[in-house]
Amino acid sequence: MDGCEILVTAEQIEARIEELARQISREYRGKNPLLITLLKGAFVFLADLVRRLSIPHEIDFITLSSYRDGSNRSSIVEISDNLKIDPRDRDVIIIDEIVDTGHTLSRLIRTLDNRNVRSVKICTLLDKPSAREIDVTVHYTGFTIPDVFVVGYGLDYREQFRNLPYICKLSRNLERQAVSAGPDAIPLK
Ligand code: IMP
Ligand code: MG
Repeated sequence: MDGCEILVTAEQIEARIEELARQISREYRGKNPLLITLLKGAFVFLADLVRRLSIPHEIDFITLSSYRDGSNRSSIVEISDNLKIDPRDRDVIIIDEIVDTGHTLSRLIRTLDNRNVRSVKICTLLDKPSAREIDVTVHYTGFTIPDVFVVGYGLDYREQFRNLPYICKLSRNLERQAVSAGPDAIPLK
């Protein structure tokens, strides 16, 4: 896409997911982990990851949001605990696309602790450790990136660009394209 600085290419993503899937398959052999995926951003990552897992597993989804308006950071985390599978006594792996301040995951871990899971680990495609405000332990990381706003591979700016097969830095040009995509592209505040 024009005017977009690629930070992680599609080939790099594919190769790294292969490695992560191999590691998870090895470490969870004989178990049936429950992969809880954070919507919406992690849906692409999940789809590619599970197709490379060689162990039995189940998936479920949870909706949390911490960004109210485009790329402006907000620490308000909204959880709608709409799990269909009971996580009690399960080995849970949280699948996220990016860990930024850490507020979202720390909130989710607290929620899961209250539901008596057997174990919980975090698997994220991207990590921005320099943006961290709350300490969270990340067990599986695809790529560590600097504290810049990125889009693509599931990550959006105003609901656009989730379809890009790579991760790129949000530029002025992309910002303009998202705004001109129309009123539907701008979330209600
Ligand atoms: P945290 O609570 O600050 O760790 O925020 C995590 C959530 O914010 C992620 O799961 C994303 O949905 C969103 N987010 C954080 N950084 C970015 C970014 O660079 N691009 C797109 N979304 C982001
Ligand atoms: Mg997310």
